[in-house]
Amino acid sequence: PYVIAEPCIDVMDRSCMEECPVDCIYEGDRKLYINPMECIDCGNCEPACPVQAISQDRRVPPELKDFVADNKRFFTESLPGRDEPIGLPGGAAGHGPVGADTELVAGYDPRG
Ligand code: F3S
Ligand code: F3S
Repeated sequence: PYVIAEPCIDVMDRSCMEECPVDCIYEGDRKLYINPMECIDCGNCEPACPVQAISQDRRVPPELKDFVADNKRFFTESLPGRDEPIGLPGGAAGHGPVGADTELVAGYDPRG
């Protein structure tokens, strides 16, 4: 699948959401996340991002590799303040903004 990495944090341009044919890009609090169980690898989202935050998982630069597992974690583990993992909601429009982030993103200091 494709993944969203560090450059999206606190930018959240959201142009990517409009390009996704399966609506699998979900909104956290500081960043967006691609659901790896729903992404069909079409690649439409990648050129839409003005800060080049999106790439295919195997092309994520080594220093940003943590974000590959972290995109998945957003859907498979319970986020702070939620009892259940998000799982497979079947579309970001129907689900709406999640309002929470993974630990990696919630505590991320872009200058640190
Ligand atoms: Fe983020 Fe880029 Fe989408 S900044 S919201 S990945 S267009
Ligand atoms: Fe959607 Fe991008 Fe995957 S447009 S299907 S998240 S490659």
